[in-house]
Amino acid sequence: MNIDLHAHILPKADHGSDSVETSLKQVDLAREAGIDLLAATPHFYPSTDTAEAFLERRQRCLAELRSRLGQDAPQILPGAEVQLCRGIDHLQQIRQLCYEGTNVILLELPGDFRFKQFERSIESLQYDCGLTVVFAHVDRYPELAEPLMDAGYLGQLNASSLCSLFKKKRLYRWIEQGSIVALGSDIHGTKTGYSEFLRAQKNLGSLYDEIMSRSRRLLSK
Ligand SMILES: [Fe+2]
Repeated sequence: MNIDLHAHILPKADHGSDSVETSLKQVDLAREAGIDLLAATPHFYPSTDTAEAFLERRQRCLAELRSRLGQDAPQILPGAEVQLCRGIDHLQQIRQLCYEGTNVILLELPGDFRFKQFERSIESLQYDCGLTVVFAHVDRYPELAEPLMDAGYLGQLNASSLCSLFKKKRLYRWIEQGSIVALGSDIHGTKTGYSEFLRAQKNLGSLYDEIMSRSRRLLSK
């Protein structure tokens, strides 16, 4: 089973897709690449948006897309790419921001991230709220993500980080130690499509299947 846990495919939910036609093209590219389960993870920025407005928008955009999907389309799983901020653990709707039907939340690090300053909020999400925290595209900020991976938190890699034949040692170390539990296309628009996902799959070899197994287990939490 091929799972993409990070994609911006909902029409006008964020800057990932400007129309339902673009979204349908994105879903079609995913289908062609053999993706079975495609998470729709629009950005949620707590500093400029409310959870109520975000959830209403996501629902509306998802319904619009689903009404146009073909029968052979991948399964779409609603989620969110939630920007971490201090106090986010107190957000009333925090569970509704998880991948639907799970206690798993995808968090994006803010530009001013420092582990010590955000540690309390992250710990509270994980231990007080009982969520499983997965950090989005940790390949983008490996230095910032390193203390999180060391502390036992989980991460998602963008497929684009695994395309080169030159293996990035740190990313492979995280995969081998079990920290990486998901891959994502992080697709915005249709230009890059799924070619990177397919290349990453090829480069990872058996590690790809291992990550997909971890994603399946993750979604059963
Ligand atoms: Fe993203």
